Amino acid sequence: MKALVYHGPGNKSWEEKPKPVIKEPTDAIVKILKTTICGTDLHILKGDVPEVTDGRILGHEGVGVIEEIGNSVTGFKKGDHVIISCISSCGKCDYCKRGMYSHCENGGWILGHLIDGTQAEYVRIPFADNSLYHIPAGSDEEALVMLSDILPTGFECGVLNGKVQPGSTVAIVGSGPIGLAALLTAQFYSPAEIIMIDPDDNRLETAKKFGATQIINNNRENAVEKVKQLTNNRGVDTAIEAVGIPATFELCESLVAPGGIIANIGVHGKSVELHLETLWAHNITITTRLVDTVTTPMLLKTIQSKKLNSKQLITHYFKLSDIINAYDTFQHAAKEKALKVILRNE
Ligand SMILES: NC(=O)c1ccc[n+]([C@@H]2O[C@H](COP(=O)([O-])OP(=O)(O)OC[C@H]3O[C@@H](n4cnc5c(N)ncnc54)[C@H](O)[C@@H]3O)[C@@H](O)[C@H]2O)c1
Ligand SMILES: [Zn+2]
Ligand SMILES: [Zn+2]
Repeated sequence: MKALVYHGPGNKSWEEKPKPVIKEPTDAIVKILKTTICGTDLHILKGDVPEVTDGRILGHEGVGVIEEIGNSVTGFKKGDHVIISCISSCGKCDYCKRGMYSHCENGGWILGHLIDGTQAEYVRIPFADNSLYHIPAGSDEEALVMLSDILPTGFECGVLNGKVQPGSTVAIVGSGPIGLAALLTAQFYSPAEIIMIDPDDNRLETAKKFGATQIINNNRENAVEKVKQLTNNRGVDTAIEAVGIPATFELCESLVAPGGIIANIGVHGKSVELHLETLWAHNITITTRLVDTVTTPMLLKTIQSKKLNSKQLITHYFKLSDIINAYDTFQHAAKEKALKVILRNE
């Protein structure tokens, strides 16, 4: 089969690899129908995730059809159409029992990281019963690719951890796919204000279309002053960090109102300064989380019932075999006006 293979920082190629086989009775082999590229794949290609080794097939998102199934899998059969979760979880360990699938002692985020991933014609999915989701007949499968990672990430790490409430004020720093996923799912709770902050005008315009009540380009405007103006000088109840650099976490520290929550989503590679000299008296909470994907079934229902339009996050379409060009577009997201790209295995 063909797959997108990582060969050390800056190097990748679309090449021939052996088709995966069942290794454990809990595995499934899935033929990929659609997959996509994540910001995290770009982090890997920069060399930020050193556990990813030469020869690894990248990718942790996608939908497909079951080609082969392990003997002990009971919830799926050959021919079933499935959503692949970016988190593989055994469902049996202590963390899984607590719904912390991301910390599964036998899995977690391993796809396209510690084991071969989904940017390929076929992928082996461990713990299939707990790591795959059935696709209802007649669904728009491309829209459901957004359930592998970005929607549960924005919702669990941003909206749920940030305790967004009816009438509350929310600022989301970073209007990439993850920040936009938080924006879309925050609206389940009818907050009074959702303020999106990003230096990319195109992404801010998209945010406005997706329901942001205010947008701030923090290249041109002072985001702290503008948010204070918009909130009677208080700041926001929930500040969601969706970038992953020190400047944006520190911005959240300046935006959060007394009693508020900073909900971090971004993957951080550097330490961040914590301003306890001001925050100690402000009754604030800081949360962090690796996405667990425990809300995937609930989010699927909101897409099926058209309460959530996940398809609008897709901007570009490619053939799977054209993945090198797709990476090029995704790597130049600002210039190409790209959010999520869909790769079709035709
Ligand atoms: N916690 C988790 O489980 C989890 C899961 C998936 C992704 N992530 C992380 O979430 C983050 C966002 O992912 P993404 O795919 O949307 O990334 P992205 O790179 O596509 O988007 C980031 C956005 O931040 C904006 N930005 C850059 N500098 C900024 C600044 N100074 N102020 C405001 N905005 C700024 C960019 O213009 C861009 O729109 C990444 O760090 C990613 O690794 C975390
Ligand atoms: Zn991802
Ligand atoms: Zn487990």
